[in-house]
Amino acid sequence: MKILRQWLLSIILIISVFLFISHPALASQDSGVAIFEANCAGCHPKGGNIIRRGKNLKQRALKRNHVDTVENVISLVTQGKNNMPAYEERLNSQQIEIVSNYVLEQAAKNWRN
Ligand code: HEC
Repeated sequence: MKILRQWLLSIILIISVFLFISHPALASQDSGVAIFEANCAGCHPKGGNIIRRGKNLKQRALKRNHVDTVENVISLVTQGKNNMPAYEERLNSQQIEIVSNYVLEQAAKNWRN
């Protein structure tokens, strides 16, 4: 019985490690979705904007407001704008680039995961 229990525990452990490694959002603190959820989703849930509705992260608004290129999103996120905080001291430049690409990818998919 004891051997069976140890064997079961080992299997569970191996499966958990495997799931953890194969799931990019869990495996990396630096994935676009993880950075977005931790830093941006509070004001931009599902690509919206709870402070200024028209300045959301959907494709149409990004185009209208000229933040539809990765360079422009990076510069906005780095420097902040009006009620949006600057991220240059909270995220490193690589994280800012990753989350900016994530925003544009999600906008292209209309924020459907
Ligand atoms: C405290 C709330 C808040 C947080 C947190 C926040 N934003 Fe914003 N965001 C805003 C506001 C307000 C604006 C509108 C700025 C303006 O006046 O143009 C905005 C605008 C934007 C825009 C331009 C949207 C448009 O249509 O013009 C992008 C892109 C953006 N945010 C991305 C991000 C990203 C990426 C993060 C996380 C790293 C983030 N924001 C975190 C409040 C926030």
